[in-house]
Amino acid sequence: MNAKKILGTILCAVIAITALTGCAGSGKKKVGISMPTKDLQRWNQDGDYMKQKFEAAGYEVDLQYAGNKADTQLSQMENMINSGCKVLVVAAVESTSLGTAIDKAAAKNIPVIAYDRLLMDNANVAYYATFDNYKVGQIQGEFVRDTLDLDNAAGPFNIEFTAGDPGDNNASFFFNGAMDVLKPYIDAGKLVVVSGQTDFSSVATPEWSTATAQSRAENIIGSNYADKNIDAWLCSNDSTAQGVVNALDSRYNGEWPIITGQDCDIVSVKNMLAGKQTMSVFKDTRTLAERTVTMASQILDGKTVETNNTYNNNAKEVPSYLCDPVFADINNYKQILIDSGYYKEADLA
Ligand code: BGC
Repeated sequence: MNAKKILGTILCAVIAITALTGCAGSGKKKVGISMPTKDLQRWNQDGDYMKQKFEAAGYEVDLQYAGNKADTQLSQMENMINSGCKVLVVAAVESTSLGTAIDKAAAKNIPVIAYDRLLMDNANVAYYATFDNYKVGQIQGEFVRDTLDLDNAAGPFNIEFTAGDPGDNNASFFFNGAMDVLKPYIDAGKLVVVSGQTDFSSVATPEWSTATAQSRAENIIGSNYADKNIDAWLCSNDSTAQGVVNALDSRYNGEWPIITGQDCDIVSVKNMLAGKQTMSVFKDTRTLAERTVTMASQILDGKTVETNNTYNNNAKEVPSYLCDPVFADINNYKQILIDSGYYKEADLA
């Protein structure tokens, strides 16, 4: 064997060992984490926490962001599969578009965990770790019901709705959770949607974009509320609530409405402190990250995987772990956000 051939043989052996162990040299198992976008605060936190916690548990981590592009996410997942990741954790840009990568992972016995957002229409999705998404919407709807005292006050009250991205399976859960609480009052005429926009597809916000939510809200205000008050604006999350706040700031002269949100983004907590957003729903990304690390470790160690629910993704009942969302407003933000170490007081200044 000449030197070139020997070198080639060594290289092949290294590649084979790397593929088997999942990680060059370190002997650690590699985890692929695919997050949708860096544009929203929460996904940066989710990614960072998971990276820290997986590394602390002895794994190597390949963390990628897909720039809100489903095809980028697909090719990132394929790279993770080919580079020896032993498990994939995926928060989908678009719930139905990642099937080929999920199937490729399954063919190599690489479990795929859907993170926060369910991966739809695929029987190879192994597990789902999330918050109780329907409950998030319920908390928002109940807040509107109770704050306007819909069961006792005479009304009628004017309300508008802004929901999330139609490609995100969570968005309809949030919307339905809230609508199931509020629809009886709309049907009874106690709540009036002056724009007439009440179905999910009319109120949805592609990519959960603040700018899109803002321009839709500006149109609604301009066309319907020149001489009327808006009493409540049900927004499914903080990025859309921020758009509605911007629109109200620039176009609206009436009394400030109740505005809901979700995530406790720094911008939205500041808006709560300024009296512009009324509530949010806190989903502690540290809890979800920890749960996902536990789930992945249990899978890889061949242990029983703890779940507390199932979600149907149109192809199977996906065993799921649902964490609890928590109501947040100006009265409890210190306790849940500052005392728990999620933010520092200075972050909110
Ligand atoms: C998440 C929300 C988030 C939204 C926009 C949803 O899937 O559950 O927490 O606000 O995406 O990123």
